[in-house]
Amino acid sequence: MKFFIDTANLEDIKKAYKIGVLSGVTTNPSLVAKEGVKFEDRIEEILKAVPEVESVSAEVTPDALTAEEMIAQANELIKINNNDKNITIKLPMTLAGLEACRYLTKKGVKTNVTLIFTVNQALLAARAGATYVSPFLGRLDDISEDGVLLVSKVAELFRIHNLDSQIIAASVRHPDHVTRVAMAGAHIATVPFSVIDQISKHPLTDQGMEKFAADWKKTTQLV
Ligand code: E4P
Repeated sequence: MKFFIDTANLEDIKKAYKIGVLSGVTTNPSLVAKEGVKFEDRIEEILKAVPEVESVSAEVTPDALTAEEMIAQANELIKINNNDKNITIKLPMTLAGLEACRYLTKKGVKTNVTLIFTVNQALLAARAGATYVSPFLGRLDDISEDGVLLVSKVAELFRIHNLDSQIIAASVRHPDHVTRVAMAGAHIATVPFSVIDQISKHPLTDQGMEKFAADWKKTTQLV
């Protein structure tokens, strides 16, 4: 399973990229609004900051309701990246979003269909040619449903029917989500930097480091 970072915060994106574990970035209107920046400017900054990732998702704005409006926005977003291939147009899971997805896929543009909460929605997105489909597990858990189970069912369905959309486990809230979606067959987990930081840590690693440091001091006293 690969890691994408789920944020529009440039510092967090740079930190994750520097570690060398990052394969992509996802943003959404709420994440951009949190940063208080202009959407297109931030997408441009992100694209420059992470030149070697496979995908940077830029979402069409919520006021684009028809496929035509979404496609028009996608065409502007693609220009930001000099038509490079790693910009990915994130589209809502609506009939208009699917129509835009099919159109953009035919044009060779990467797409990410977002706000997926059922297996059937994932199936439709895959059939519309989505490069990525994004089931939101945390938001399902929030309403007492099982988000990881959804990811696992989507993974099984894609295997049975040889669908090649990649599953991005989204709305990931904590380390256990990461382990469980990796085991469930997600191709990618998109996570905030705090989760990358958390999964790098273990108290026994810290204790081990302290013990090695203490023992090492003893060896320097042997001279
Ligand atoms: C994914 O693409 C979304 O931006 C994101 O994972 C949403 O997560 P949230 O439910 O924590 O807002």
